Amino acid sequence: MIQILEIETMGLKNNFFKSPWLFSNQIKHINDNELNDQKVSLVHIKGTKKIGIYCKKSLISVRFLPDKIFNHIENNTIKKETFIKAISEHLNTLKREKIKFQFPKEEAFRLSHGDNDGLPAIAIDDYQSVLVIQSSSQAGEFLLPFIIDALKLIDNRPLFERSTGQIRKMEDLPERTRWITESSKENNNYEVNCNFAKLKMNFFLNKAQKTGLFLDQRKNLEYLSRIIKDYDIQSCLDICSYAGAWSATAASSGVNDLTLIDQDSWALNLAKNNILANSNNNVTVEMLHGDMFEHMQRLLKLEKKYDLIIADPPAFAKTKKHVPEAKRAYSRMTKLASKLLSDNGILILCSCSRHIPDHDFLESVCVGLNEGNWVFLHKGEQSPCHTHLANPDSSEYLKCYFLINRKL
Ligand SMILES: C[S@@+](CC[C@H](N)C(=O)[O-])C[C@H]1O[C@@H](n2cnc3c(N)ncnc32)[C@H](O)[C@@H]1O
Repeated sequence: MIQILEIETMGLKNNFFKSPWLFSNQIKHINDNELNDQKVSLVHIKGTKKIGIYCKKSLISVRFLPDKIFNHIENNTIKKETFIKAISEHLNTLKREKIKFQFPKEEAFRLSHGDNDGLPAIAIDDYQSVLVIQSSSQAGEFLLPFIIDALKLIDNRPLFERSTGQIRKMEDLPERTRWITESSKENNNYEVNCNFAKLKMNFFLNKAQKTGLFLDQRKNLEYLSRIIKDYDIQSCLDICSYAGAWSATAASSGVNDLTLIDQDSWALNLAKNNILANSNNNVTVEMLHGDMFEHMQRLLKLEKKYDLIIADPPAFAKTKKHVPEAKRAYSRMTKLASKLLSDNGILILCSCSRHIPDHDFLESVCVGLNEGNWVFLHKGEQSPCHTHLANPDSSEYLKCYFLINRKL
């Protein structure tokens, strides 16, 4: 049996429950002696049908689970097997919903986008041959064993955990990289090959950033592949390339002069292989290992120009207090990248900082753009399998601008 504690809000009206969580100052906290060592528990919000995970130490103190779970509660408890079954049914629902987002059947996609999909702090990416799970907070740590059992009930594919990254560090949680399914443990093969955004992509689970690939860029990569042939693009500069999804998209459309910048040398080599796998081999790939700003400065001094430039950096604003510094960094990135662009070239600028809303990113970009007559070709966002809630919070995190410097 799992105990469910009652929790009261500070008089919140129902409208608040459209958000996937409640903050520390919105609830009356539970006494320590009722909680486990981690100060985490399943809770029911008094007077509502909302069930969530309570983490006393976190600023986000209650993170909601799917409403359907409420129906399985008896006397403030839920049977463990019932809880696991309810999660597996929820995972099946998510799968049915996500595949409606019109990507080809055998492509990688995000099955769970954490709180926005009712599974707090748990991301699950489906790479067809393997499922990769990531827990990013104390609430995720609580939920993880139940999710693993729930997944095992409905899916017999190998399951890998890649719980790494900045957010775990901020929550003081150790990194964890492991095979979860018993049959895979003996097997030291971490290589994954999958289809994604019309590309054949390869990566290694044990070296991966995030769960493996940045699946949130799917729609933006597809947009590039749709328009690229309408422009005269011979050369491409891919800033923060990681596994090379942008360059591989360009190469698959016939661009054969590719330059990549990343501070991760492993990723650069991976990117090169992915480019070769998606092109006709008649390509030159220059790999520039190190800091993006230093490399861009150096390329400017060499008077280099590129017909297509993509800048897809990591989130510059990890928290709200980093926003002013991050905005300056986006302006600087834009300034350098726009100076390196050929006339009538395409400039793609991305921000995955959830603390920088679209208007702030636009402002930073406009400050940075080199002189000229810049127009939007397209404004892209996260692929819809990275669920975007219809409420005014930061669940729309990915901004992806396609610009040209139009010569009139
Ligand atoms: C958001 S990911 C890029 C995703 C990639 N464009 C894709 O679509 O798969 C950011 C990348 O920036 C790299 N990076 C972070 N800081 C950097 C810096 N200062 N200079 C160069 N690369 C950096 C990371 O190693 C990572 O590969």
